Amino acid sequence: MLEPIPAALGERQRLDVALGERSYPIFIGRDLLSDPDCYRPFISGKRVMIVSNATVAPLYLEALRAGLSGFESDQVILPDGERYKDLATLNRLFDALLERRCGRDITLIALGGGVVGDMAGFAAACYQRGVPFIQVPTTLLAQVDSSVGGKTGVNHPAGKNMIGAFHQPRAVIADTATLETLPERELSAGLAEVVKYGLIADRPFFDWLEDRVPALRAREPATLATAIARSCQNKARIVAADEREAGQRALLNLGHSFGHAIEAGTGYGTWLHGEAVGVGLVMAAQLSARLGWIDAAAVARIRALVAACGLPIQPPPSLSGERWLELMAIDKKVQAGRLRLVLLKGIGEAVLTADVDPGLLRASIASAQAGTA
Ligand SMILES: NC(=O)c1ccc[n+]([C@@H]2O[C@H](COP(=O)([O-])OP(=O)(O)OC[C@H]3O[C@@H](n4cnc5c(N)ncnc54)[C@H](O)[C@@H]3O)[C@@H](O)[C@H]2O)c1
Ligand SMILES: [Zn+2]
Repeated sequence: MLEPIPAALGERQRLDVALGERSYPIFIGRDLLSDPDCYRPFISGKRVMIVSNATVAPLYLEALRAGLSGFESDQVILPDGERYKDLATLNRLFDALLERRCGRDITLIALGGGVVGDMAGFAAACYQRGVPFIQVPTTLLAQVDSSVGGKTGVNHPAGKNMIGAFHQPRAVIADTATLETLPERELSAGLAEVVKYGLIADRPFFDWLEDRVPALRAREPATLATAIARSCQNKARIVAADEREAGQRALLNLGHSFGHAIEAGTGYGTWLHGEAVGVGLVMAAQLSARLGWIDAAAVARIRALVAACGLPIQPPPSLSGERWLELMAIDKKVQAGRLRLVLLKGIGEAVLTADVDPGLLRASIASAQAGTA
């Protein structure tokens, strides 16, 4: 059970992801980036390779390096964008590691959003059959979701995150001060994953969010820190119970089968991941209502909260019904030929189902596109 949401949190917090010998801490707070105590216990060798991108490095690389004094540090700066989350860019990372003769004692440090984190994590999973890595997430989405849980990977033109590995970080260091430079659209995208946790299994959090979205969008530090910590608690609990997605962890994909279809179908980077997930949450709610599992009032609350986050609530009209189903079938939630979807039995009660009639799904998508759902 989660505790009640506290009115205010201390300056810094530490949560733990309990995975036996792969357990690790998540540090959340301001100005952690330059704090050597956040890194030192989690780097076993002398060398680190910072992986960042062309947008984040000019903002935060120097501050991070200040926290790494005493280590020999080098960096690889990748181009910025979801469209570069691919094997070709990953290979540039391997080239750099080999050119600089990095051995198995290297620790990779991912400094950036989910794209950098997923790629650096996957490189760490594969390089010389696996080296340690640390996540330093700098977007809201990465601080509440992608940096925690050990899913790493890249996209393929045929499907999102199709090539990847499970590889847990040694630590996650979420410096909330970095969110001050985040573009508004990216902040909204991160809120989609925050809302997701409320919907999956934390109704008190959903209720709390309904009152706090304006403060979150205004980047009120204490409210942001509370939302990040609560999101990480939710994710850590689910990951600890089911690290490799044999069951419960699949619930974290709420909204994602729809969202991934939007991302792949419109071309990676056109819709932000969080934007696609926001619409995906609304579409999952609409389909749940069509099945009679939740009522229209619940759908209206979900739609209103997603809209209040500054997110779109209607899918793009450009994808045909056939293309939708094709993309959803490629998404990895297919098992034994049946499309598995995460839907809602209530706010705070997500369930995994393999029983959805394709006709119903098609009708639900069509009415979402037409704005009549
Ligand atoms: N591994 C997982 O469990 C998991 C979970 C959720 C999402 N993801 C993946 O995460 C990716 C999305 O992550 P994202 O939303 O962080 O996108 P992103 O990494 O593309 O970052 C968004 C944009 O913000 C910029 N940016 C980052 N930090 C900034 C800062 N502090 N100030 C200013 N600009 C900054 C980035 O350069 C980029 O342009 C997707 O590829 C998604 O599939 C993975
Ligand atoms: Zn996501």
